[in-house]
Amino acid sequence: MPEASQTVSLPAYLKKTGALVDRALQRFLPRATVRSGTLHEAMRYSIFAGGKRLRPILSVAAAESCGGPPGNALPAACAVECIHTYSLIHDDLPCMDDDDLRRGRPTNHKVYGEGIAVLAGDALLTIAFEILAQSPGTSRYPVAAQIRELAVAAGSRWLIAGQVLDLEGEGQPVTTDALRFIHQSKTAALLTASLRLGAMSANATPLQLRQLTQFGQALGLAFQVIDDILDVTQTTEKLGKTAGKDVAATKATYPALIGLEASRKEAHRLTKKALLALKPLGNRASRLREIAHYLLDREY
Ligand code: IPE
Ligand code: IPE
Ligand code: MG
Ligand code: MG
Ligand code: MG
Repeated sequence: MPEASQTVSLPAYLKKTGALVDRALQRFLPRATVRSGTLHEAMRYSIFAGGKRLRPILSVAAAESCGGPPGNALPAACAVECIHTYSLIHDDLPCMDDDDLRRGRPTNHKVYGEGIAVLAGDALLTIAFEILAQSPGTSRYPVAAQIRELAVAAGSRWLIAGQVLDLEGEGQPVTTDALRFIHQSKTAALLTASLRLGAMSANATPLQLRQLTQFGQALGLAFQVIDDILDVTQTTEKLGKTAGKDVAATKATYPALIGLEASRKEAHRLTKKALLALKPLGNRASRLREIAHYLLDREY
């Protein structure tokens, strides 16, 4: 017999969990009527612009894979989505990737101006920790440990380090080792933290946490390799962000370094590696397996 949660198809699960996260974000973020209205409007503009909600969904699915209730994972789920959205707002600024389109809409700075966009990013980064502080601590993972987890992943050794090296890599020759490190830092670290925080909310065993960490590291790297591929192969309409930006900006990417076919193979190899890490978790990790397959085949 499949477990109750597995009777729901993956598209229905993604929709249901995304809606659960959206409702929680509605509660956690100040209304646009709260001073400063412009700032709260700008934060909400990007948060509710319609992303895939991959990271928060991973938090919830990881909690479920450890036998925890989705509700306990919601503060972590919302916190990682706030960090992610802040990183996108800043990533799109003219001083960084200089993008006009995000999640199918004009970028934050195009609508609110650069000053407000910087500040909306700052505010989303900050509120992530306010939200995570409301996470239920568990016997193995007190709230302070959860907060540290997110701070490290989003901080100067991981996400921001990756963004710095990504900028410095423009137009420069990079080795595959250096490129892997950029992608692990700017993308895989937050994805892994999303899974780990969900697992922590379910008081995961050390074995569960270790396997989910390995899953996240491989899945997160695969995710950025696929993002690089889609930038080359998809249309702006499909992506909801400007296609072909990486070549135009001479970014260090997998397709640029090893070509499209080898990049696809690498994404497959990494996804297989990710799936292998889930083996010890048994049937409870079925949803995470489905998500890994879905991410490999995604078109945006
Ligand atoms: C885009 O992430 C930025 C990367 C780290 C590749 P997503 O593809 O998850 O973006 P949204 O959240 O769906 O907009
Ligand atoms: C973004 O990577 C990574 C972070 C925002 C941390 P990209 O620059 O490749 O993301 P897109 O393609 O603009 O979404
Ligand atoms: Mg970038
Ligand atoms: Mg970018
Ligand atoms: Mg990209």
